Amino acid sequence: MNFPHELPPSEPPCGPVVTLVGAGPGHPDLLTVAAVKAIRRATVLLVDDLVGDAVLRYARPSTRIVRVGKRGGCRSTPQAFIERWMIAEARRGERVVRLKGGDPCIFGRAGEERRALEAAGLRVEVVNGITAGVAAATALGVPLTHRAHAHGVIFATGHTRDGAPSPDWRSLATLASQGYTLVIYMGVASAAEIERGLREVLPASTPVGIVQHASLPQERRVHARLGDLHAALSRHGLASPAIIVVGDVLAAASPHVTAPSAQAGGAAPTPRAGLNPTPAAVQEC
Ligand SMILES: C[S@@+](CC[C@H](N)C(=O)[O-])C[C@H]1O[C@@H](n2cnc3c(N)ncnc32)[C@H](O)[C@@H]1O
Repeated sequence: MNFPHELPPSEPPCGPVVTLVGAGPGHPDLLTVAAVKAIRRATVLLVDDLVGDAVLRYARPSTRIVRVGKRGGCRSTPQAFIERWMIAEARRGERVVRLKGGDPCIFGRAGEERRALEAAGLRVEVVNGITAGVAAATALGVPLTHRAHAHGVIFATGHTRDGAPSPDWRSLATLASQGYTLVIYMGVASAAEIERGLREVLPASTPVGIVQHASLPQERRVHARLGDLHAALSRHGLASPAIIVVGDVLAAASPHVTAPSAQAGGAAPTPRAGLNPTPAAVQEC
């Protein structure tokens, strides 16, 4: 069997194309084969905050890697600027890959970027990735839709666009009380508000799980109760990036279930011949 990095890169499609690629929750073992192929094919990689350097080892030495997140103390690059940049590079004939954490279509602005790129006459490809919420659930030992406890799952965000109303936590709590597991992204800063809103319907004893840095060596997991959510975050010093899972499925959590990467100690892959030992020409901001 070939490993992903030994597979030949797939043929580049004709005409200018930009590929929106999900890099998964962070550990390079959780990249898809399609993601590895796209990264290897890229001549320009625009990389989001939560994409770790280990993932970038799959890029070719000549690939220009541009960080467009907040790492290194930089402010986040404005969205319109990123879109203009992708358009300009693709029109110049570069093979542009926009690499995002998790799945590009889950709280990843894929919709906005696709619209801007298509409006500029470019073709857009999407490569799905493992979204952080699913990786976090595995870290907690939880099947999100365990049929004894849940018949659905809701991905919600604790952070909305400036000026947009907050999610209706009361309504989401009602759904949770009817057997829907809540998976909350970007919820750390608003944990007090989330706890208050959900508690209007759900009992304080409702199980919650929090995972910071799911799939990475520094991963941390905490099991708590809804009535203690905000306090548990501060007590354990948990910060972003973290996922909060709420629901009775946590009662079925198994401490023995872990992702293979976590079992292996989260080691990054050894670069192979022809791959970057270190990210090439990483440019911050
Ligand atoms: C802008 S959203 C991007 C989500 C991403 N597109 C996905 O599908 O996972 C960023 C949020 O995703 C969550 N997140 C991303 N990576 C994570 C990780 N490895 N562990 C825990 N949470 C993560 C955190 O809630 C973080 O604040």
